[in-house]
Amino acid sequence: MGKNKVVYVCQNCGYTTGRWLGKCPECGGWNTFTEEVDIYTPTVKRKGALNFLTSSGKPIPISQAKEIEYIRFSSGIKVLDNALGGGLVKGQVALIAGQPGIGKSTLLLQLAYKLSHQGKKVLYVSGEESVDQIYLRAKRLGALNDNLLVYSETVLEKIEETVEDISPDVLILDSVQTVFSTELESSAGSVSQVREVSYRLTELSKRKEITTFIVGHVTKEGQIAGPKVLEHIVDTVLQFEGERGSFYRILKVLKNRFGPSGEMAVFKMTTFGLEEVPEPSAFFISERNADRAGTVIFPHTEGNKPVLLEVQALVLPSVYTNPQRRSEGFDPNRLAILLAILEKEAGIFLRDKDVFVNIVGGIEVDEPGIDAAVAVAIVSSFKDIPLPPNVAVFGEMGLTGEIRNVYFAEARIKEAKRFGFKRILAPKSVALELREPGVEGYRHITELLEALDLT
Ligand SMILES: Nc1ncnc2c1ncn2[C@@H]1O[C@H](COP(=O)(O)OP(=O)(O)OP(=O)(O)O)[C@@H](O)[C@H]1O
Ligand SMILES: [Mg+2]
Repeated sequence: MGKNKVVYVCQNCGYTTGRWLGKCPECGGWNTFTEEVDIYTPTVKRKGALNFLTSSGKPIPISQAKEIEYIRFSSGIKVLDNALGGGLVKGQVALIAGQPGIGKSTLLLQLAYKLSHQGKKVLYVSGEESVDQIYLRAKRLGALNDNLLVYSETVLEKIEETVEDISPDVLILDSVQTVFSTELESSAGSVSQVREVSYRLTELSKRKEITTFIVGHVTKEGQIAGPKVLEHIVDTVLQFEGERGSFYRILKVLKNRFGPSGEMAVFKMTTFGLEEVPEPSAFFISERNADRAGTVIFPHTEGNKPVLLEVQALVLPSVYTNPQRRSEGFDPNRLAILLAILEKEAGIFLRDKDVFVNIVGGIEVDEPGIDAAVAVAIVSSFKDIPLPPNVAVFGEMGLTGEIRNVYFAEARIKEAKRFGFKRILAPKSVALELREPGVEGYRHITELLEALDLT
């Protein structure tokens, strides 16, 4: 290595500077800078840049580029294949991120087993657990197969050597934060190590056409720990989430170079591992008390396959000077905005009330289509009036109380109808466009509340 020049790197976004800063100018994070050895300037040799991207190294006319055909194969887990747009791809590099204990290692070990069972050679590298610990889990999951090789190692160079040696079809690295290159002086998990490990393994996977899964831990705030570069470099980003204490786990496709993003797969955690949930709508709404106030069904989607979710609200007089506003699975800032709109536009005055909102099932919803459903649930709880049965609601709410159109309206309506919801309260423009029986259109929150006898 060259002379060790020191730089300061934001551990949140990877922004690099020559001197320490209290606040990152890029992402706004406080106290995020850590001293690291400079690997970014060209004086230091860095192996394994992304040299798989071009063969000639020269620009060519686009019409002369070759047509690549992706070689797809099944993961052995149907809901995962569907969410990924038809299975895994040879040479695909996927990041799977999630909170501690959510089930990342479980999912990948089960996946490793299914693939090895199909005759694929799978190398499962763990920097977190010993081979014996992995064996225990594999035994519990019934995931023992001789095509599944396990290897406990944290040094990147050794992992690379082993991969060169064994040439597996599938590589699993658990986790990127525990592996480090001896060529860098910073510790495992630092931005430069995470960047180096992911670059080098991506390069290796592309060159040897290995399908690779990299586990990434997330921070307390739910961000993928380490730099954004990790998300940019991989082909696919999967986020594994679920509520504490709930059996259900949701795998969301946040990014996919080989298929649509926004898809999701739902699993149930059991003693024997993760079970597929092929009909997520049925389970998300299964425990609903439809005759109580403060619950409404919302068809949610960010991709092609909507799921029905139960939105719950609880409104009650506050004993605090600052009333409580809490939400699970829904942005608390958005909640504050909806309460302000309800006050100004619909005369629903909740300043002295505690307001709690919950999306049942542990799913995080950050698409705007949920606004109208949250507003309706809040007013239903406030007035203590249950909604009529068989009602589903969706639509974005603007600052003047208008109900705005959202993506995938038709798919949402179809899913609600499939589960017997006869009245679907949607934005007016949707109803005008589709003219479908059962679909009612509303322009403003007050019209929506009137239609539900909530005024
Ligand atoms: N014997 C068991 N029976 C049922 N469920 C279990 C059992 N052991 C573990 N689990 C479930 O598996 C989860 C841990 O799974 P796993 O180790 O795959 O998570 P992880 O995301 O890899 O965690 P980490 O971040 O610690 O690596 C536990 O939270 C629990 O829900
Ligand atoms: Mg783990």
